[in-house]
Amino acid sequence: MKILVVGTGAREHAICNAVKDAELYSIMSNKNPGISRISKFQISSEKDLKGVKKFALDNKIDIAIIGPEAPLEMGIVDELQKAGIGCVGPTKAAARIETDKAFMRDLFENHNIDGSIVYKVFDNIKDTADFIDEFGQDLVVKPVGLTGGKGVKIVGEHLEDGEAAKKYAKDIIENKISGYGQVVIEEKLIGEEFTVQAFVDGDKIVPMPAAQDHPHAYEGDQGPITGGMGSYSDKDGLLPFLDKKSYNQSVKIMQDTIKAVKNEVEPYKGILYGQFMLCKEGPKLVEYNARFGDPEAMNVLPLLETDFVDLCQGIVDGNLKRANFESKATVCKYIVPKGYPESGQAGQILDVNESKINEESGLVYYAAVNQKDNRIYTSSSRALGLVGIGDSIADAEEICENVTKYVKGEVYHRRDVGTADLIQKRIKHMETIRN
Ligand code: GLY
Repeated sequence: MKILVVGTGAREHAICNAVKDAELYSIMSNKNPGISRISKFQISSEKDLKGVKKFALDNKIDIAIIGPEAPLEMGIVDELQKAGIGCVGPTKAAARIETDKAFMRDLFENHNIDGSIVYKVFDNIKDTADFIDEFGQDLVVKPVGLTGGKGVKIVGEHLEDGEAAKKYAKDIIENKISGYGQVVIEEKLIGEEFTVQAFVDGDKIVPMPAAQDHPHAYEGDQGPITGGMGSYSDKDGLLPFLDKKSYNQSVKIMQDTIKAVKNEVEPYKGILYGQFMLCKEGPKLVEYNARFGDPEAMNVLPLLETDFVDLCQGIVDGNLKRANFESKATVCKYIVPKGYPESGQAGQILDVNESKINEESGLVYYAAVNQKDNRIYTSSSRALGLVGIGDSIADAEEICENVTKYVKGEVYHRRDVGTADLIQKRIKHMETIRN
């Protein structure tokens, strides 16, 4: 069996590590030290669809696993499938669940899927402004397409008031931010965010343990929004503020979504990432991603007991069975260059003592770094994820935090991810919302 992983980051490093008993190939845009030592690789753009297809055909790849969303939006799966290659990732049409937020919200509305929220889609500046004036409560302004996590702005957080919301909405429409001349205005959800990822074979979904990411750059949930500074999961697959009933409701929302995508477009095959807000009334959908989460892939994949390649084959063949995960808690902390996310210092030498990290039970997943002449250099983005696994979140956090000392360079990380204080804050927040 020959497996190709497309993508360069820590999420893809975690995917590659999960591939056992298969010949592993990869396409990455720069030399990831973790992926390059376990795969036959080509350094080229993952968005060069013709190049990816040629590499896959030349190497007689059986299954391609697509890490990031950009090639999915461009139709990489359609290209590879036409060439007879099985794919873990949705087609361009099915990936609209992530790449077109208007499509996603309309799907919920048209198919009466639970977890829907108040929203409207506009392509006209005056109508948008009138709606914002009439709405009368805090709202969220979103470009319709992909923005690399930087497009969503919330009144009261990134936007001062309704006037700022109108200005941003006008900018989105006039300048076609994210490629569409459309904007989505949504109600602001109050609660705690969490992630559920699932394997999907077109009909059936097989869910993974829940996780919680930390998008803010600085401790105490302060500072600018990033791609995610770290995440944790618990040994029962739930989270300290997330009960079984709410988790099951989220999974049901994802299952209903997959049914709706099949009815409206075509079967969805691949990984589905549901980002939910646990609100007073239960979970509501914030957004979907058509891929593994980053960092959340690093929480779930190291715990997978079922053979990952068998699961990928089940996705391709449409006959997924269940997936078992080890009953352990995990904490992942991202090490990022100083100045990240606005002006991360690129080209700095990063010294990673992997043997000490592994000796002290930590795992390393390389992200946006580049290996040249046996040295590792930062880029302006996240550098590497460290993971601790334990019998409790506290144990996993201790392992993870301890091994951060073996990464040296012009970098920082959030020490509070997975700590008891932060988790207590989440539990208290949820109690306040529910009572
Ligand atoms: N954790 C955020 C993402 O994967 O997009």
